[in-house]
Amino acid sequence: MYIDQGIIIQNMPSSKFVKKAQNLENVKAPETFTDRELTRAIRDAIVGEENAIKQYEAIVDAATDDKIKGIIQTIANEEKVHVGELLKLLSDMLPDEKGFIEDGQKEVEDSNDESTTEPSEDEPSEDEPEDEPSEDE
Ligand SMILES: [Fe+2]
Repeated sequence: MYIDQGIIIQNMPSSKFVKKAQNLENVKAPETFTDRELTRAIRDAIVGEENAIKQYEAIVDAATDDKIKGIIQTIANEEKVHVGELLKLLSDMLPDEKGFIEDGQKEVEDSNDESTTEPSEDEPSEDEPEDEPSEDE
């Protein structure tokens, strides 16, 4: 449940809550979240941190003053720490979360291993068909 200007709104998506919360007038203590709502709000917060990183790094790329570039990159790096903190909270709250992330990382490692393996000279590459098609094709 979400209360907006005294009006109770059911099932407000957490992303809307975060948007509302960015306006200080709208920062009110909401009712406590269920675990599911809390993990959704944390995921929204991760998106917010990632968007901040993109914004700060765009400023770094556009700035010409080295001091400004350095300070803004430091701020961007602090946001990356926040992402790490939020991911840790999620993995502590959701026992499966760490396994899913590790599965994704392993899939990338496996695909890296496949792409760096040179095809054997005996076997045709998957990308290049053999010169002569077989008779049954
Ligand atoms: Fe942050």
